[in-house]
Amino acid sequence: MSIQFHTLGTCIGAEVDGIDLREPLSSAQAEEIHAAMDRYAVLVFHNQPLTNEQHVGFTRALGPLENTMGNTLRAAADHRLPPTFADVSNLDGNDKPFGQDDRRRLFAIGNRLWHSDSSFKAVPAKYSLLRALRIPSKGGNTEFAHMGAAYEALDDETKDVIEDLVCEHSQLFSREAIGFTEFTPEERERFRPVRQRLVRTLPRTGRKSIYLSSHIGTIVGWALPEARLLLRDLTEHATQREFVYSHKWQVDDLVMWDNRQTMHRGRAYPASEARDVRRTTLKGDAPTVEQAVAA
Ligand SMILES: [Fe+2]
Repeated sequence: MSIQFHTLGTCIGAEVDGIDLREPLSSAQAEEIHAAMDRYAVLVFHNQPLTNEQHVGFTRALGPLENTMGNTLRAAADHRLPPTFADVSNLDGNDKPFGQDDRRRLFAIGNRLWHSDSSFKAVPAKYSLLRALRIPSKGGNTEFAHMGAAYEALDDETKDVIEDLVCEHSQLFSREAIGFTEFTPEERERFRPVRQRLVRTLPRTGRKSIYLSSHIGTIVGWALPEARLLLRDLTEHATQREFVYSHKWQVDDLVMWDNRQTMHRGRAYPASEARDVRRTTLKGDAPTVEQAVAA
């Protein structure tokens, strides 16, 4: 049976049928999925009761994995999952939801701002593959916005302004935006900003996209207020409803998205309820721009 892709009725996303992700992926199937990712940017697979090993196996069939250690405030003893996973759950090492005011939770809810995964790494992420094992009784949707469609809808003057701009990205900036500013010296060092182009080109299609993320703190060479206002305007433009798909999770969904041409955000849900979602991440091919030489 061949793989079928059904569009979600917007400029972004498709549901996928005719594939069991527990089975090994042929190279022809992997190519079909890459082509569909180029086209739809978000793919939704329902009813995929995978083990962690099967989740990792499917990811590896699409490319090399990113190591996600050190991306959060979890201590080593808190880790429920191997380093091949980003634990996007609200659960501690004992499988219990973090307290409402737990520092690890307050840092983690920064992912409710629009962002692109690992844009704070010199080689940023390609795809993210998020699987739901337990979901709360309400809320917790993930929303995706298409940065290629958003780029194409910009006026020519704005396209010219942003074409060669370079931004600084760090989790320090996205947390500062929600008032989380207390970091240890070790964390500040670990979350040192990296540089990324603001306009990216998808290698296989040549399609341009706006590489936005709430991890951006400034535009290199710009005064801070002017930089932040442009970034706000672009984000407001790029997250209009016409560019957005909102995913309501079911247990055993796996949703895969292309971080090079989308932003996403998690939505709120009751803090006392468990939400067990776990993510593998495909490493990007290369930096988007040269990094500054360290002073
Ligand atoms: Fe994310």
